Amino acid sequence: TSLGPEHPLSSGRTASSRLVRAYQGERQEVTPVWFMRQAGRSLPEYRELRVGTRMLDACLDPAMASEITLQPVRRHKVDAGIFFSDIVVPLKLAGVAVEIVPGKGPVFEQPVRTAADVDRLTAIDPASLGDEVFAPIQEAVRLTIAELGETPLIGFAGAPFTLAAYLVEGGPSKDHIRARTLMHADPEAWARLMAWTADISGAFLRAQVLSGASAAQLFDSWAGSLSLHDYTTHVAPASARALSHVRDLAYEVPQPASAGAEPPIDELVRNVPLVHFGVGTGELLKAMHEVGADTVGVDYRIPLDEASRRLGHVVPVQGNVDPAMLDAPWAVLEAHVRDVLDRGREAPAHVLNLGHGVPPETDPTVLTRVVELVHGWRPE
Ligand code: CP3
Repeated sequence: TSLGPEHPLSSGRTASSRLVRAYQGERQEVTPVWFMRQAGRSLPEYRELRVGTRMLDACLDPAMASEITLQPVRRHKVDAGIFFSDIVVPLKLAGVAVEIVPGKGPVFEQPVRTAADVDRLTAIDPASLGDEVFAPIQEAVRLTIAELGETPLIGFAGAPFTLAAYLVEGGPSKDHIRARTLMHADPEAWARLMAWTADISGAFLRAQVLSGASAAQLFDSWAGSLSLHDYTTHVAPASARALSHVRDLAYEVPQPASAGAEPPIDELVRNVPLVHFGVGTGELLKAMHEVGADTVGVDYRIPLDEASRRLGHVVPVQGNVDPAMLDAPWAVLEAHVRDVLDRGREAPAHVLNLGHGVPPETDPTVLTRVVELVHGWRPE
């Protein structure tokens, strides 16, 4: 499926950005950088705007979601905006009773623990939801890309396992024991739950890309609690299914205006780049690539050169500054960022990010300084 001519990738606004080209495997002279959870409580302007509005209400208010997405781009000059939303937003839009409790995370009114619970949940057919339910998302994306200009917007969704870890438990949990038990106790119900969450997340991703996002990231934050065997058997097929909702989206690479004498670029059509990230997933990196991602996100527990080696040195990587370092003395943080950049040279391309989200107490001026450092560094 072709993106429309107005899409930032087809119109040429973002197709040659550092971020998009790095995700497609072309090493950039200046390494692109953005931060997971760059929008949020580390920013005073975010805390001010959010006063009196609940998290999910903020996500479904297009003007507010758009403004919050733009705040860190203006402040830090990062190479991408990440759409302000949450992994449970598509569930909420599908009619599932969920709240986000401050300081805790998503909490569900009715945990999904048995085959009967799975039946009740999957009675909602993701295919029947239609475009209208995503209207607030589409509107927020459109407002955002109108302001972003040549800076790409990254859309995102939760991977089926991470969503299931919340759904089965009813809220945050330590090692997702109930979800992993259901996986083994009733593999058939588990597979139905995973396919359903894949389709809900996939539809959410697709709505963001069709409305103007230039890349998409699937967050499987809690996949690190799985063995490689359980991941490949009980989870990877559903993650592949989630990504298949956006894998077909493609655009024509805009040709230079004065093409005249120059030979045409042979690769005319490219896919929207897809990123796959998880925490503690050092053993799963290859499997996470194989579900159909272009770039693999790496957390801070494994050095980037080792991650690249495990991926055969053929996959662009994203990561992996330790969030704990953000509050260390600048000299310590600077040495760490330079080390991450050096190790990132082992991969065909590198997008600098944190190994997980920005902690809420982070001094935002430190993040701006990290962006300046990364933009000033050159891969010799
Ligand atoms: O800036 C960005 O990265 C974009 C926005 C974003 C949010 N959530 C906003 C948010 C993204 C990409 C997410 C994804 C998300 N949500 C994940 C996957 C990424 C990860 O961090 O591992 C997960 C596991 C969730 C579930 C969730 N939602 C948690 C654990 C929390 C934190 C609860 C808390 O208060 O500490 C949320 C709420 C949430 N989502 C906040 C933000 C900015 C905090 C809300 C607030 O300001 O009170």
